Amino acid sequence: MVCLGNICRSPLAQGILENKIQSNKLDWTVDSAGTASYHVGELPDQRSIMTAKEHGIDITDQRSRKVTKDDFDHFDLILAMDASNYNNLRSMVHAEEKVSKVKMILNYAYPNENRQVPDPYYDGGFEKVYKMLDEACEKLIVEES
Ligand code: 4NP
Repeated sequence: MVCLGNICRSPLAQGILENKIQSNKLDWTVDSAGTASYHVGELPDQRSIMTAKEHGIDITDQRSRKVTKDDFDHFDLILAMDASNYNNLRSMVHAEEKVSKVKMILNYAYPNENRQVPDPYYDGGFEKVYKMLDEACEKLIVEES
């Protein structure tokens, strides 16, 4: 799960998918990262922590990190929150089998529409972001399991 800062959207996405992995008894690993390093080492944004908590999900074990080229070897899917993340991720690698791992997460819920998860850092909207990610992760579980 990749966004810009790895403190708002992708930590929520990680927490939501971890929760669904557990309830579906799947043997999957999920992690999150940012394309930027502004917040490396930090906890998720308090608003993401509170939104997750309201849905019974604890994301306080997460710390922001920057996405690396190694992630393209270790993960089958690299899921971008918005078009900027998507373009940045795809330009990190050259091999087609790695480039094609990058997908827009909302395409699981709205195929081929390339909808974006809005950045809630400045203007808020964390609950709306939560609902979008929850819907996409529900479809992801069905499609990929
Ligand atoms: P995120 O949100 O990409 O969902 O983690 C942001 C977090 C921090 C900043 C921008 C977006 N920032 O500019 O510091």
